[in-house]
Amino acid sequence: MSEFTIEQARTFYDWFGRRQDWQSFYENPALQMLVEHGAFGDTHRVIEFGCGTGRLAERLLRDCLPAEATYLGVDISRTMVGLAKARLQPWSARAEVRLTDGSAALGEHGGSADRFVSTYVFDLLSATRIEQVLNEAHRVLAREGLLCLVSATHGHGVVGRMVCGVWDGVHALSPWLVGGCRPIELPDYLHSDWRILYLDSVSRCGITSQVLIASPQGSD
Ligand SMILES: C[S@@+](CC[C@H](N)C(=O)[O-])C[C@H]1O[C@@H](n2cnc3c(N)ncnc32)[C@H](O)[C@@H]1O
Repeated sequence: MSEFTIEQARTFYDWFGRRQDWQSFYENPALQMLVEHGAFGDTHRVIEFGCGTGRLAERLLRDCLPAEATYLGVDISRTMVGLAKARLQPWSARAEVRLTDGSAALGEHGGSADRFVSTYVFDLLSATRIEQVLNEAHRVLAREGLLCLVSATHGHGVVGRMVCGVWDGVHALSPWLVGGCRPIELPDYLHSDWRILYLDSVSRCGITSQVLIASPQGSD
């Protein structure tokens, strides 16, 4: 599989910018499932890896998080960080958006977050990078914290399988054409240090999304 490098991801999403929100036609049902099952009303600190335009963060801060809860979003794209900062301006006292170099390291204290969220990001990362991000999520999450993920995944039925076949083919040809994204199976990346609490999928227009919520095991 050809890898979508960090430099390619940065260049692509700097260019793609607010077009990312046009994907809401297939993303919204999965994000709704994540919000419903992520128990966000019971949080103190949320960290989002690859926050994009800040669309989910806005929803969480406006509708779901307790008034005192804080939010940190990180992203590799300067354009995305600019869009997210502008969007989250009404919550600037408790919402921070940081530009990162693409590495998984967040520089946050261990056990300091109770939700680690990442939506439609793992599907553009290499297996090695996913493992690094999961290790960092495990480190920063409190014992009772939750990992909350959404990703593009393999579809079922004739249409779902056809879309995936074309998608995989285009990705193999040039990851750039699909923003680096390809269908993946999130549980394949979670080892025994996670306990999966919720796993479901939803399809829109032949594009299938997987929603996964897990708790860290064995953290003190
Ligand atoms: C497909 S977009 C999804 C954005 C948002 N999470 C959403 O659901 O709309 C992927 C995002 O991940 C960011 N990204 C890609 N690789 C990253 C990395 N290594 N570290 C942090 N952000 C990354 C991109 O800049 C982009 O904003």
